[in-house]
Amino acid sequence: MCGIVGYTGGQQAISVVLEGLRRLEYRGYDSAGVAVVADGALASLKRAGKLANLEKALDETPLASATTGLGHTRWATHGPPTNRNAHPHLDQAGRVAVIHNGIIENFARLRAELEADGVAFVSDTDTEVVAHMLASEVAAGSGLADAMRAVCRRLAGAFTLVAVHADAPDRVVAARRNSPLVVGVGDGENFLASDVSAFIAHTREALEIDDDHVVEITPDTVVVTDTDGAQVPVRGYHVDWDASAAEKDGYDYFMLKEIAEQPKAVANTLLGRIGTGGKLSLDQMRLSDEELREVEKVVVIACGTAYHAGLVAKYAIEHWTRIPCEVELASEFRYRDPVVGRRTLVIAISQSGETMDTLMALRYARQQGARVLAICNTNGSTIPRESDAVLYTYAGPEVAVASTKAFLTQLIACYLVGLYLGQVRGTKWGDEIQAVVRDLSDLPSKVDQVLETMEPVRALARELSTATSVLFVGRHVGFPVALEGALKLKELAYMHAEGFAAAELKHGPIALIEDGVPVVVVVPSPRGRSVLHDKIVSNIQEIRARGARTIVIAEEGDDAVEPYADHIVRVPACPTLLQPVVATVPLQVFACEMASARGFDVDQPRNLAKSVTVE
Ligand code: G6P
Repeated sequence: MCGIVGYTGGQQAISVVLEGLRRLEYRGYDSAGVAVVADGALASLKRAGKLANLEKALDETPLASATTGLGHTRWATHGPPTNRNAHPHLDQAGRVAVIHNGIIENFARLRAELEADGVAFVSDTDTEVVAHMLASEVAAGSGLADAMRAVCRRLAGAFTLVAVHADAPDRVVAARRNSPLVVGVGDGENFLASDVSAFIAHTREALEIDDDHVVEITPDTVVVTDTDGAQVPVRGYHVDWDASAAEKDGYDYFMLKEIAEQPKAVANTLLGRIGTGGKLSLDQMRLSDEELREVEKVVVIACGTAYHAGLVAKYAIEHWTRIPCEVELASEFRYRDPVVGRRTLVIAISQSGETMDTLMALRYARQQGARVLAICNTNGSTIPRESDAVLYTYAGPEVAVASTKAFLTQLIACYLVGLYLGQVRGTKWGDEIQAVVRDLSDLPSKVDQVLETMEPVRALARELSTATSVLFVGRHVGFPVALEGALKLKELAYMHAEGFAAAELKHGPIALIEDGVPVVVVVPSPRGRSVLHDKIVSNIQEIRARGARTIVIAEEGDDAVEPYADHIVRVPACPTLLQPVVATVPLQVFACEMASARGFDVDQPRNLAKSVTVE
């Protein structure tokens, strides 16, 4: 949600900043802007719409050559996405430029005070107050970092702020509170960004910045202080992927590339976690066996696609450990006075590690004494840093806004946690765990198999691209898969799509079915609990009898569904609990192809942002 880049060093700031913005555009793409410090003055340009609009404008009117600058790509909160609301925002004299991610909650009061002092505002944003406040602190004699500290003390809300001043040609200052910010440490150059992908082409050495800290970079120094100006120690880390991982690599869209990377991502997430004899060892599981044995309840909190991974986790965790498991949308969790305490294990699932709703829910859980385990894809991000333990997924950078490989690896991580709890608490025998671990190890090649047979799914998506509505149904773990299939179609193809528990259809939604409505049915394995399979076969018949066009996802060899399926998509046989890993893939491909057939931007769907850092 809003991408932020700051740079100072020996290179042309504008090209470093634009390259960073290109990699961060997934965070927001309503408008974009840049500012550089050149010859004792600021030069800035901003444009509504995607980054390409700004790049075109810069080609026509290049900014002065400079080695210090900043840039922003926006997901609008305050004020529509227009040129004037695009960041950076400048003070009245045009000496300070500031960019912002987050929401300044007391901006209306601050704006009123500034206006009473005669400041004329030129935008509708909450951010602009910061530009005027910084300018007045600097005018009163403060350095830019002092000014930033003073301003932050007066701000309420969540923010990452990055600022430059015309009088400080080799200095960029930033601050964060509940919003992401990392530093890239180069040789004779330093970087500030929302995430490491912005500077990964230049350095893989990064520093974490904590809440309420202010950082000042020059080409050769990085100084981090608390709000009182006292220098604080910082933690550095090495990024273990390189720029090529964040490139499209010949694919038309990042999403296609990320779908194709899933077998590898699943394998990487299992790597090193299965010891001899199938015994699991989870690195960074900093909770002791004793603490895990004390757990009386598991609560999974997450948003969007990660929430769907949590729904699958519930089936696995309860089945393998017999610990009651609740799954809750993170945004709802803390507002309903949940029953959480010392014996509750909260699992926070987040690809980005920065989702504000999830972060706030985890903080609440910790205040109540719960232990929090994060399942996260982004090293050094806030959610794992604030958790008691972490299980990283190794999906690599996910750029497309719609999550694919991160979801599959979240499922794997959830299975690993469930089995690990079973191992520690003795609710599963070693050989039972070993058997599941063997099944998990087979998944990369099974996902590969699914990917090789996707052409008919693509053809079907093209054929159905004028449909007005698609329904998805499933039972047991197939229910969250149905929800995920519907979410993918909504976010990418802007089509009415809904997922239901198959048996719920007849309690209302079946009224939606009319002649030709496509209904995707996720069919559980007939080898599992056969009662589930039989029941869903009846459900297919019910909807087909009412005119639905049935698209059935069923495992190889399941012949019983054939008479009722208008289209069959075969997936390799898997144990029931693991089926979501293979059954989700055709739904991702379906949504991706549908969006491209309808002429939409697959990687950057309208109104969305990949990482939602406001509540
Ligand atoms: C946004 C994204 C979704 C994602 C959700 C949670 O809504 O568009 O794709 O599933 O946030 O993100 P997280 O980074 O916490 O997994």
